[in-house]
Amino acid sequence: MNSQKHLFSLDPDVTYLNCAYMSPLMKSVEEAGIQGIRSKLQPNHVSGEDFFRNNEKLRQEYGRLINCSDVNRLVVVPSVSYGMANVANNLSLSKGDEILIIDEQFPSNVYPWMRIAEASGAQIKTVSAPESLNQRGLTWNQRVLEAINPKTRLVACGHIHWADGTLFDLVSIRKRTNEVGALLVIDGTQSIGALPFDVAEIQPDALIAAGYKSMMGPYSIGMAYYGEAFDNGIPIEENWINRFESKDFANLVNYNDRYQPGALRYEVGERSNFILVPMLLEAIKTLNEWQPRNVQEYCQSITTDAVQELIEHGYWVEDELHRASNLFGIRLPDHITMEAVKRKLDTAGIFVSYRGDCIRVSPNVYNQTSDLLELANALTEIA
Ligand SMILES: Cc1ncc(COP(=O)(O)O)c(C=O)c1O
Repeated sequence: MNSQKHLFSLDPDVTYLNCAYMSPLMKSVEEAGIQGIRSKLQPNHVSGEDFFRNNEKLRQEYGRLINCSDVNRLVVVPSVSYGMANVANNLSLSKGDEILIIDEQFPSNVYPWMRIAEASGAQIKTVSAPESLNQRGLTWNQRVLEAINPKTRLVACGHIHWADGTLFDLVSIRKRTNEVGALLVIDGTQSIGALPFDVAEIQPDALIAAGYKSMMGPYSIGMAYYGEAFDNGIPIEENWINRFESKDFANLVNYNDRYQPGALRYEVGERSNFILVPMLLEAIKTLNEWQPRNVQEYCQSITTDAVQELIEHGYWVEDELHRASNLFGIRLPDHITMEAVKRKLDTAGIFVSYRGDCIRVSPNVYNQTSDLLELANALTEIA
């Protein structure tokens, strides 16, 4: 894969290495949004069928992206917290049960568990990162597996850590959760689209992802997958369109007790969103053309030299086997302060994030080797 910078409208004077904060929009996605806005100028052209058509296409495309053939398990959500709330509200936990999370996980994948733990008397167990940077990712993964035990009812984690890109071995975690009968709920916000995820292989119980980062979509729309464990659950809201035969507009007030099949009951109200749905659809179509495997390989190819240079100058980056290439953390040598780093990168027009004790670098297909080398050069100048 080559640089896809021409598909975006980034400012040529800045070096944008901050997809984990927010991806830029592709021009094609911008256009889909504009068409969406225009569609409401003359609503006589918006048909009843239009309330359903793009969502069905979106399910198909997203199903291709994450290898999920049962597309009625894929629903639009406005946020990760929304998607997780549907999970949390359908768990039955008792005192002594354990919910396992990873240290410094993103709050939308923590607060829902705090709420149900408080209500049920279940305990939250947090798997902390090792103190030592030596084989940090490997050891952290071992700790996660060791922490899963017969009391564990739920493991909630990301595919990669949102702050430093540590890769979690979901195949092993799934195996261990199956052994103890625990659910596995994954936040894919920082990985879906840029790192392969295979629903058929991992068989998560839920996979929730915001659409505005590695999925390259707009803000306020994401996708959720719910597995069979939630087939008979109660959604956090009761929307007309999620009920059986909702396509029959003339019959909507013959209130229907049944839901649409699969997980469609969990889809957010007004999910037909005539602006955001076509935008996300367009973004995911492009991701399917690129394929997440190629996006990840591309990110790896443009980061290798810069990471090498940084390590030679005393910075620390996790080894490639235990981190992603679309999002990784750089830790500083002792004598350099984060303040000095911020000043230097601000002056150089290099955009990254600062999370915990890491510089969070998140390149994507609009970046090139030169962007990463620019970052490395700026950092080595102050080393
Ligand atoms: C890992 C992760 N999950 C979720 C979110 C966003 O959560 P929400 O959609 O609930 O605002 C972010 C935003 O930074 C994130 O990094």
